[in-house]
Amino acid sequence: MSANKESWGSRVGLILAMAGNAVGFGNFLRFPVQAVQNGGGAFIIPYLVCFLLMGIPLLWIEWSVGRFGGKFGYHSAPFILNSLDKRPFWKYLGVFGIWSNVAVAAYYCYLESWTLSYVYHSVVGSFSNLSQTQIADFFSDYVNLNVSTSGIPFEPIVFFVLCLALNTWVLSRGLSGGVEKVAKIGMPLLILFGMFLAFKGFTITAGENGAINDSAVGLNFLWTPNFESLWSPKVWLAAAGQIFFTLSVGMGSIQCYASYMRSKDDIALSAMSAGWMNEFVEVVLGSSIIIPIAVGYLGIDNVIEMTKSGGLGLGFRTLPYLFYQWGDVLGAVSGVMWFGLLFFAGITSSLAMGTPWMSFLMDEFKWKRESAALSFGVIVFVLGMPTVLFFNYGVFDEYDYWSGTVSLVVFAMVEAILFAWVFGMDKGMHEINSGSDIKVPNIYRFIIKYITPTFILLVFLSSLVTPKDGNWDAALRGNWVLDDSSIIRKITNAGLKEQIAAATDAATKANLE
Ligand code: PHE
Ligand code: NA
Repeated sequence: MSANKESWGSRVGLILAMAGNAVGFGNFLRFPVQAVQNGGGAFIIPYLVCFLLMGIPLLWIEWSVGRFGGKFGYHSAPFILNSLDKRPFWKYLGVFGIWSNVAVAAYYCYLESWTLSYVYHSVVGSFSNLSQTQIADFFSDYVNLNVSTSGIPFEPIVFFVLCLALNTWVLSRGLSGGVEKVAKIGMPLLILFGMFLAFKGFTITAGENGAINDSAVGLNFLWTPNFESLWSPKVWLAAAGQIFFTLSVGMGSIQCYASYMRSKDDIALSAMSAGWMNEFVEVVLGSSIIIPIAVGYLGIDNVIEMTKSGGLGLGFRTLPYLFYQWGDVLGAVSGVMWFGLLFFAGITSSLAMGTPWMSFLMDEFKWKRESAALSFGVIVFVLGMPTVLFFNYGVFDEYDYWSGTVSLVVFAMVEAILFAWVFGMDKGMHEINSGSDIKVPNIYRFIIKYITPTFILLVFLSSLVTPKDGNWDAALRGNWVLDDSSIIRKITNAGLKEQIAAATDAATKANLE
């Protein structure tokens, strides 16, 4: 039991903080790229099915598990899980729910610091009058830590520290005094900026300002359904992965936020509100900005090619240039709005990643809020430095894979089983519905008990042994070669072993000298 009596200031504040937790880079950078890579219109059906059968149930589970643990004074996953069942191993599994937040924060906050820096550069006009290549090079120079043109030495590190200091400061002010305030300011601004940019994305006309396509070309590509890829497990896997990441489920951060609710507060409707707000920002705003704008100026084939290396290139190398096609003033204004929007999306998520770690220290070791916040900043700095220093060696992606993808699925599987099968659906449904403004339809009793865990299990097993190029057809006909992206292959990856061996060699040598 802790002396920690903190709670949310208002219901609106809680919902905005939860929506802020969910709305992040996933909505604006990851979603459009996933959609393009998985066949545009083909992606959206599996995506929506995953949202309804896996996303919403997990939101209800996590909100109610969190509020339940909070009644006993617990605010971090190990103890929250343990309050549903007394066997101690749940506590150890719960460590996932602290660890993955810190690990994701390590690369997420680094990305967040780029947005801060790019707001600054848009304001001072660093991108005006630069050619497309120069703006792309600006980014490469930046992530490679080349001494910047703005005269700030090691600018990425300066902004990384600044960004962490900002997070630490907000976290030290508490939930209602810090996190909630940032969400109340940041979320409306994000939606406003997003609407403006989506409006621009919607009104691109071939022949104007150098555009070669109307907005419709990009939008149609995203939204014309292609039913064939419904049979592709690869598309389903990508859709499920996106739902996990975008809703922030399987992390432990939702449970932590929910543990600060009052025991009579509504869950069923609030969880849906935050979840649907994330979907609006993702499906409506997220798909109306980078894709239609980039396709409008560069054409579909180029854009498909560019998304092969993820969403970061489009967002940071290409858009700042395209904005200037609208003139110097609108170019700068759009830059500020785009990177400002990304910054708010980022900080409201990274604050959520800081809270579980802090709650753990405050509950168990009676740390003061300020020291706990500071320790988060320091840990993220230490864990984040490898992504800063070795960005080009794929460290960033490696973090994203293990902590931002695999770990979420494992943890969600654990908690869905704990909730539906150990705690039990009678108590479970009671928890979800108690204090609620709406009653969850009874069909969800069945879905939460059978469909959701099966779904998660399938996602997990198929990522464990993904066949080459995601070609399940061939694999099932006996030709089973593991793809490089399968978890098993990654664990036993020869390349990785070589890297480690080389690093150990170098270390031994250094020791001998
Ligand atoms: N949901 C966030 C996004 O879409 C990412 C996130 C994951 C945030 C886990 C908090 C916890 O970017
Ligand atoms: Na999201």
